[in-house]
Amino acid sequence: MAISEPTSIDRPGREPLFLRACRGEDLEATPIWIMRQAGRYLPEYRRVRETVDFLTLCKTPELATEVTLQPIRRFGFDAAILFSDILIPVEAMGVEVRFNPAPEIANPVRGEAEVHALARPDPVQEMPFVLETVRMLRRELPEHVALIGFAGAPFTMAAYMVEGHGSKDFARTKSLMYREPLVFHALLEKLSLVVSDYLEAQIEAGVQAVQLFDTWSGLLSPRDYEEYVLPHVRRILERVSRAGTPSILYGNGTGGLLELMDEAGPDVLSLDWRVGMKDVRLRLGDRRPLQGNLDPGVLAAPASVIREQALQILHDAGLRSPHIFNLGHGITPGSPIEGVEELVRTVHEESRRLRGDGSS
Ligand code: CP3
Repeated sequence: MAISEPTSIDRPGREPLFLRACRGEDLEATPIWIMRQAGRYLPEYRRVRETVDFLTLCKTPELATEVTLQPIRRFGFDAAILFSDILIPVEAMGVEVRFNPAPEIANPVRGEAEVHALARPDPVQEMPFVLETVRMLRRELPEHVALIGFAGAPFTMAAYMVEGHGSKDFARTKSLMYREPLVFHALLEKLSLVVSDYLEAQIEAGVQAVQLFDTWSGLLSPRDYEEYVLPHVRRILERVSRAGTPSILYGNGTGGLLELMDEAGPDVLSLDWRVGMKDVRLRLGDRRPLQGNLDPGVLAAPASVIREQALQILHDAGLRSPHIFNLGHGITPGSPIEGVEELVRTVHEESRRLRGDGSS
C-alpha cells in the first residue's frame, strides 16, 4: 500500500506541520499522531508479530521500519514514531529484559553493587539496529511526515529496573529512593547519561523530534518529583536542545506536576486525559505547545462521541495556540480501527476549518 500523498494542508518546501507545532508556530491545521500507533490493534502488525517475537522485531531494521510505516499508510498521521521500546537501552546496560508481552527483568537492580555494574553503552556499538531503522525510515517517509525518536525518562526506566516488572504503586522503587537516596540518584544519573547519549545518536541518525516517556513519575508528590526527577530530566533536555531538536515530555497522572515538568524545559508538554486542556492553558499560557489528550477509551465509543470529544479538545487547546493532537496514553490492543479513522478525519478536517475561519 502506498503512503498517502500530502493533502492540501501540506505545502511543499515547508517544515512538516508537526515540527512547526513543536516550535510554537501559527498553524493552518492541528497535526495528529497517537502513542503506540504501531501495535496489536492493527491486523498488519499482528501479521508481522506472528512471524517474529517483539525483541527480534525491534532489532531487525527492515521489520521495525515496516511496522513504523503501517499506521502512516493506513491513517495519514502527521508524525511517525520509531518502533522500539523504552527498555532497549536497559538491555544494552547489561540487564536482561524479556517481553511477555509486558516487560520482565529477571535480575532487578536493588542496590549499590548493581547500580555500579550498569554499563554506559555506546549507542553506535550496542544499539546499531535502532540507528539503522532511523536511517531507513528517513529514506522511506514522505517529507511532510516527521520522524519522532524517543527514550524512557530515568525515573520510569528505573522503576522497571528496580521492580523487575510493571506495578501499581512501584513500592520497591520508592523504598530504594527513600532508604538509599544516594544510590537512587546514582542510578538516575547513570540513566540520564545513557538516555542523553541515546537520544543524541538518534538525532544524528535523523530523528526530527524526540519524546521522553515519563509514564510513572505521576506516582510522585511534587516535592519528590522536584528532588528526584526534575534535575535528571532537565539535564537530558538540555543536551537535546543543544542539538536544536524539539523535545516532548510525556507523563501519565502528572496533572499536579505540570509546572515542574515545564521547568524541566521541554518544547512540548504531553498531557494525559485526567487534566482539562482549558485548565492547562490557564496554568501554562496560550503559547505553550501542548500535546494530547483524548482518553484512549474514547476510541471504542460511537463516532458521534469521538467527534464531540475531539472537537472539545481542539477548542480547549485553543485554535490560535500550538497543539499536537494525541491520546492521553498509548492506544490499547482492543481499540477499533474505525475509531482511529474517525478521530484522524475529525482532527484534520475540523481543525483546518476552525483554524482557517478565525472563529476562536
Ligand atoms: O508508540 C509507538 O508506536 C512506538 C513504539 C513504542 C512501544 N513501546 C512498542 C511496544 C513505544 C514508544 C513504547 C514505550 C513504552 N514501553 C512505554 C512508555 C509509554 C507507555 O505506554 O506508558 C512503556 C512504559 C513501555 C514498557 C512496555 N513495553 C510495556 C508496558 C509493554 C507491554 C504493553 C502491552 O501492550 O502489553 C511493552 C511491550 C510493547 N512495546 C509492545 C509494543 C507495540 C507490545 C509488544 C507486542 O507486540 O507483543
